[in-house]
Amino acid sequence: MIIAVDGPTASGKGTIAKALADRFGLPMLDTGLLYRAVGYQTQLNHGDADKADDALAACSFPDSLLDDPALRYETTGGLASRVSIHPAVRAALFQRQVDFAGQPGGAVLDGRDIGTVIAPHADAKLFVTATAAERAHRRHAEMRARGVDVTYEAVLADIHARDARDTGRAEAPLLRADDAMLLDTTAMDREAAIAAAIAFVEGKVRRPS
Ligand code: C5P
Repeated sequence: MIIAVDGPTASGKGTIAKALADRFGLPMLDTGLLYRAVGYQTQLNHGDADKADDALAACSFPDSLLDDPALRYETTGGLASRVSIHPAVRAALFQRQVDFAGQPGGAVLDGRDIGTVIAPHADAKLFVTATAAERAHRRHAEMRARGVDVTYEAVLADIHARDARDTGRAEAPLLRADDAMLLDTTAMDREAAIAAAIAFVEGKVRRPS
């Protein structure tokens, strides 16, 4: 079974994808990490994330980079969002994601274009979202808990900028697939969102469409 989980920054899609992978015993790929690795490698190469050639050269990053804690930094998320605009970067990362989705038994992938581009034939697709204000509130609380000194306004501005880049790009923009379940977690806690996602996938397994 292939499960596609898409959605904007800080929507909770990663948490939901992980819960689904655990529940259904499937391997999981956080595809954002691949774009983060490209963004970070571009910086290590002293390249410019806005230049397609520099970003493409960084696509041959070593696999060990995927374990680097620096990939989780907010600044790396910003770099990822910039390199992900380039069609050549998306093409370079395409096969790796398709191969992961196609492994025997299936997989869970989370990202922005899984249900639309990487695995359009996924057995279950979810589009996880929440209002920008709620996502900024969650991200701000999480960053403050980690000791990062940042204002709510700065986090909200960053979320708006990332949303604009992710939805506005020409190639594989963030888009809800027609057959994806819309899971708006604005008024839901973590447990309720996970329960709704599991119930949806279980329904798909019982009644595949
Ligand atoms: O999900 P995460 O915040 O780690 O993703 C970082 C950035 O990588 C996103 O803002 C988005 O621009 C890009 N991305 C993408 N396609 C994906 C996953 C992530 O363009 N499938």
